[in-house]
Formats: sequence, C-alpha cells, structure tokens
Amino acid sequence: MTTQEFIGNPNFTIQSQTVSESCPSNIALIKYWGKYENQIPANPSISYTLNHCKTNTSMEFVAAEPFSVQTFLAGNVEVKFAEKIEKYFKNIEQYLPWILKGKYIIRTENTFPHSSGIASSASGFGAIAKCLMVLDEMFTGKTSEEGSLRKASFLARLGSGSACRSLYNGLVVWGETDEVENSSDLFAVPYPDHEIHDTFKSFNDWVLLIHEGQKSVSSTVGHGLMKTNPYAERRFQEARENFVPMKEILKSGNMDQFIKLVEHEALTLHAMMMMSDPAFILMRTGTLEVINKIWDFRKETGLSLFFTLDAGANVHLLFPNNGTEDKIKTFIEEELLQHTQKNGVVKDVMRF
Ligand code: PMV
Repeated sequence: MTTQEFIGNPNFTIQSQTVSESCPSNIALIKYWGKYENQIPANPSISYTLNHCKTNTSMEFVAAEPFSVQTFLAGNVEVKFAEKIEKYFKNIEQYLPWILKGKYIIRTENTFPHSSGIASSASGFGAIAKCLMVLDEMFTGKTSEEGSLRKASFLARLGSGSACRSLYNGLVVWGETDEVENSSDLFAVPYPDHEIHDTFKSFNDWVLLIHEGQKSVSSTVGHGLMKTNPYAERRFQEARENFVPMKEILKSGNMDQFIKLVEHEALTLHAMMMMSDPAFILMRTGTLEVINKIWDFRKETGLSLFFTLDAGANVHLLFPNNGTEDKIKTFIEEELLQHTQKNGVVKDVMRF
C-alpha cells in the first residue's frame, strides 16, 4: 500500500458548506511511542475505541475566500489550535487539492472535561478528517464508503498518529504487522470481529483524573525522545512481538494473560519516558498509589480490574461486564477516587 491511493482528485467544484461530524477517543492496549518521518509509527499498536469521550466538530467552509482558519473550542477562540490546523491543511493539500481554496470556521467541543488531561487530539483530528471527507465527496463526487473511511483514517494520522484508530469502532490496529491482515502504517484497520472472544466485547474504561491540566511534556516531544533512547529498538521489537500473544489472547478470552500484557505495555511506555534523555516522569504519586491498590485488590478478590495509562498521570481502569462489575465499581468509588485531584472520574465503555 502506498500513499498514491490517497492523492486527491484534481477535478472539483467547490461551494460554501457547513458540515458536522463527531469522533470518539481511543485508548491503546499495545502502545505507539516513537515514529519516523511523515507520521510512520515505529511499531504497530492496537486500541479500544471509547463510546462517550468524543469531539463534536462543525466545519464551515467559505468558498473563494483567501485561505484562513479560525477555531473555537467550546465557544472560545483558540488561536494556537487554528495555527496547528492551518499548518495541517497545508500539509495535506496533495490529498485534498481544494483544501486551500477557502476560509474555515471550525467549532469544536469535547464531551469530556477540557482540563481533564484526556487526550483530545485523537477525537479532535478524527472529527476534522471526517468533516474534510464529507466536503471532499461533495466537491469531487462520491467515493465508496469504505474508501472514504480509510482516507479519513489516513488524513487523521497526518494530524495526530493515534487519531487514525478513532475512525473505527471496537478494537483497531494501526501499523503493519503480519498478525493482522491488511494492517498498514498509513491508516488503521478494524481488528476482525470474529477473532475477538465475547469477554472482550463488553468492557468498561473509567478514567481516574489523577492530575488535571497541561502535561509537562507533550507527546510530540515524547515521540521525538525515542530517537535517542538507547532502549528504543528493543521496545519497538517487543511491541511487534506482543501482537503474537495478543492475537491468541483475544481469540481464547484468557483474561489473566490479557491483564498481564496490557499492564506491561502501560508500564513500558512510562519506563521509556524515564529512560529518555532528558528523562521525564508523567505519573504522579496518585498514579502509583492507584496501581498498588489495584494489584492488592486483584490479589485479594481475584476480580478482573486492571489498568492502562496514556502519556499522562491519569489511570484508565479497565474491567469487563461479567457480573463482577458492581463490586469493582464500589471499590473504585470507595478506595481509588480519593487519589484523584478533584474526585474526577470519566465513566466510559468500549464502543463495539
Ligand atoms: O497520537 P499521539 O502523538 O498523541 O501519541 C499517542 C501516544 C500514546 O497515547 C501514549 C499511545 C497510543 O498508542 O495511543
């Protein structure tokens, strides 16, 4: 698969239009951390798409005006975001040749708290890419739905890597691996439904907001530091290798092995940060306290509560709906919530 497939149709007719799209966030189980030129991931990753954590975006395109972008986040002008989008649109012109031929007013809002530290770039760029593809279909004539979704994933990737996985529901893979048919570094593909045990299809993700606010190191900087990390190659190799047991686990429904692999991936991500030069730590005291309590709880009860982390201090609490969830929810409310900054928890489920 090459980028050739995504080169835009040079024959188009533009007109002023307003389109609206929404896109969910996602949480990776095998993590993407480290990339090459043009947003090519250093290793394949797999994520769950969330259900409630979403970005809703309306995009007003005013044809025949000089190119400019204005953005509003929850009604407030966002200059930094507009600059980012302007750069992004210039970057993807070869894939959408009409894109610089007008002015944009983009209004966007997240269904999760703005200051929560939940990454909005995945859902944000996912929603923008979807809006662009709706406009593209209007201006150039309809393409196939499948092709359009794939191109939206391709375009979202160029905005923020992990965003490309948010275009599909369920478990989604980005990055080429022999373990998943048709997987690609250029866009994400849904993980085949018949290869997923029912145990993994009804899952909760409660995000404990340990630290709200800006992260000290952005993921762009974090990815960059993998270039000089002496453990990077080993890490990329391990992530590739982890697809072999992951595939087996997803098929067999082995929860214990799933927990072990997912937690290992989360801790490896943060270990990479600690071994970067300069080193950085995004976990907070509360993150470690919660992890230890989860391990104690599992030892005592044998119930399937476990965690993953993204590039921040928040803890994603994962647990299946298998009849034990009430006990787990009570434990979270009584024991874990106290480690958050403001009693913050975002209760989500996986979107299948
Ligand atoms: O898409 P980015 O550049 O925000 O990177 C996301 C990296 C992680 O969230 C830490 C892992 C992942 O695969 O989503």
